[in-house]
Amino acid sequence: MRRSLFCAVLCVSVLVTPGTCCLSKEYELPDGWCCPMCHEGSVVKRDCTPQSGTRCVPCVDGTYMNRPNGLTKCFPCSSCDQGRGLFAKQNCTSTSDTVCDVIAGHFCTDLIEDKECRSASRHSDCKPGHRVKERGTRRTDTTCEPCPAGSFSPEGVNCSLWTTCSENQVEVKGGNLTSDTVCGAASGGLYWLIAVAVVVLVMVLIGTLVGLWIKRRNQENQQQGPGSSVASGEEASACLQESSRLGPQGMLSVPSEEELLPLARLL
Ligand SMILES: *[C@@H]1O[C@H](CO)[C@@H](O)[C@H](O)[C@H]1NC(C)=O
Ligand SMILES: *[C@@H]1O[C@H](CO)[C@@H](O)[C@H](O)[C@H]1NC(C)=O
Ligand SMILES: *[C@@H]1O[C@H](CO)[C@@H](O)[C@H](O)[C@H]1NC(C)=O
Repeated sequence: MRRSLFCAVLCVSVLVTPGTCCLSKEYELPDGWCCPMCHEGSVVKRDCTPQSGTRCVPCVDGTYMNRPNGLTKCFPCSSCDQGRGLFAKQNCTSTSDTVCDVIAGHFCTDLIEDKECRSASRHSDCKPGHRVKERGTRRTDTTCEPCPAGSFSPEGVNCSLWTTCSENQVEVKGGNLTSDTVCGAASGGLYWLIAVAVVVLVMVLIGTLVGLWIKRRNQENQQQGPGSSVASGEEASACLQESSRLGPQGMLSVPSEEELLPLARLL
């Protein structure tokens, strides 16, 4: 134990805060005496007396003291909150606080004094049609850029060039930023189209011919039949005429050449 009186006078004279009058690694008591500090990992249990030195106690679990001190309480250890994207890189000891670090895939959003991170967030993903320009680090988020022309990215990670359809394929759908070109079998598709078109054409042709033929027959019947007959009579006679044309098997007889000639002229 040592009086700091001489020192205190000196301190006041040079306007230094009280307490600095003890030597380094000493702390000052309220009455102006100086006591030796406790080491890291411990705090003061009892101040020194003229007969004995400072009595210190070690910090208990969950607390620490990282410097020589004249304090009576250890500091509580900080915790690394997983919900804030942090984990304990180094556990708390009696002489040092927990050291938190950013969980993989996260970046620090609240950095203290350029070293300690208080909170972190997940790296963001790039949108489809974009790709990762620079991967995120512990300090920075992902940066993205749009896919270059002629390429696509469905997931927003990498861009791939559009597929070029081969010679015996046709481009069913052009590519865009998010999806590839769609190629189809050229021959197969085309043959189907042609087949359907031919069938439709033939059906239309047959339909037209039959329609024209029936119209022509009706006109002939009108000219031959009794002009004054009522509609129902006309129909009946047309019906008779029609049945007379049916062959023995009940099938329509083939129209004669004279009957088809005006049709051919029409076409
Ligand atoms: C910290 O302590 C916990 C248990 O208390 C242990 O599981 C973990 O591995 C320790 N971490 C380090 C970095 O030593
Ligand atoms: C993206 O490209 C990089 C480098 O070319 C490659 O290492 C990575 O596996 C690719 N990722 C995906 C999801 O295709
Ligand atoms: C790209 O094409 C796909 C399918 O072909 C379609 O679903 C999507 O909407 C298109 N995206 C754009 C941006 O045109």
